[in-house]
Order: sequence, then C-alpha cells, then structure tokens
Amino acid sequence: KGQRDLVGKHVLISAGGTREFLDPVRFIGNPSTGKMGIALAQAALHRGATVKLVHGALESALDAQIATLPEIQAFSVTSADAMQQALLHCFPEADWTIMAAAVADVRPASYSQEKLPKRSLPSALPLETVPDIVAALAALKQPHQKLIGFAAQSGDIVTPALEKLQRKKLDAIAANPIDQPNSGFGSDSNQAVLIDHRGRQHIVEPCSKLHMAHQLLDFMQTLT
Ligand code: C5P
Repeated sequence: KGQRDLVGKHVLISAGGTREFLDPVRFIGNPSTGKMGIALAQAALHRGATVKLVHGALESALDAQIATLPEIQAFSVTSADAMQQALLHCFPEADWTIMAAAVADVRPASYSQEKLPKRSLPSALPLETVPDIVAALAALKQPHQKLIGFAAQSGDIVTPALEKLQRKKLDAIAANPIDQPNSGFGSDSNQAVLIDHRGRQHIVEPCSKLHMAHQLLDFMQTLT
C-alpha cells in the first residue's frame, strides 16, 4: 500500500494480553503475543495516522522494537486495570480505537504482596470479573469516533461475534478463529470475518497479520 489515507487521523490501538497477578510470581494470563495489535500500529503509521499504542507483554523482540519507535506513543501496561486507565486517558483524542488486546475476563479476588508459600495456596481460587474495557469506551464514544473490537472464537465465529458487537455497542468487530491452522494467537498470519453494526461483512482470507491490518483499516474507512 502506497497511500497515506490516514494523515490527520488519531488511531488508538490496544495489543497483547493482560496479566492478573495473585502474588508477585503467579498470574492469570492468556496466549496473546501482541502481534495483531503491533501489525495494526505499523499499518496505521505507514498510512500516515498519529498512532497511540497501549500494550501488554509483547512476545517478540521485533514487536517490542516497533512499540518503542519514536513515531508511536506507547504505554506499556500489565493488568486490565492499568490498560483501562491508559485507554481512558487516550480515548478522547482518538478518531479510531481498535481493541486488539486480549483482556482477562477474570482476576484473583485478592492480591498478596508476599509470595504465597505452596502449602498455603488455596485449592480453589476466588475470582472476580474484570470490567469490560471496550464496553466502557463505547459508552463514552462521540458520534465521530469509531470503535472496533476483536472476538477470538473457536467453532462458529460469526454468531458470538455479532452478539458481542451488539452487547458492547461497537461500530465493528473482527471475528477471529483460534482453531484454524496459521491463525490466531502467536501466529504471524491470521484470518477473520469483519462485521459492522449494519451487518456488512468482509472476509479476510488467510494472510499475514500486516495484510489483515490493512484490510481492517480499509474496512474502518467504510464505516458510517
Ligand atoms: O468478550 P470477549 O473477551 O470475547 O470480547 C473481546 C473484545 O472485548 C476484545 O476487543 C477485547 O479487547 C475486549 N475486552 C475488553 N475488556 C475485557 C474483555 C474483553 O475490552 N475485560
């Protein structure tokens, strides 16, 4: 892509997984590596956007390098709480927000400052639900702002993604299979069905995450 069609646009992207610690050494996490979010940041930057990136742990050294490019304003966070704070801080300025991060659904109900000895670990861990960040952003959204989420799914990907799109009041969602070869967590390639609030769909055939990122930005250009 040679075009710089996003000059003047502020694009906010979340990437990677959150970690919800039980004590200083144990956490509830997920297999997200941040690759899709980093590809989105790269694509948006390439097309001339002003890019802000809120990211959890990034697995590849190259992705970590991209996150520290001087052209990108990056916020490195660990927990869902910290991710929400950073996103709320950046959201008012964002024309487009893309929630590619895999945020925890639950976290340990309490945190111990000291490492818990093995013998005192509970056999069942009390959990609490993590507030839905993208739904909170949707509630603050101004008419000119566009907000897209991701739905990582196994099996039928479209039905649960549509439900999430409506429940979270998003402009669009990327339904993303995690049970297909060469797509989903950790892969350099991906595939998806992009769905907007009017029910329009665009199928992203298996391709590199960077190519999918460009297709997603193209899809956002068509949102009304
Ligand atoms: O409900 P589910 O976790 O599948 O929804 C995925 C979408 O919601 C992603 O865009 C993810 O970033 C966002 N999400 C969130 N806060 C949560 C959980 C998910 O913003 N606590």
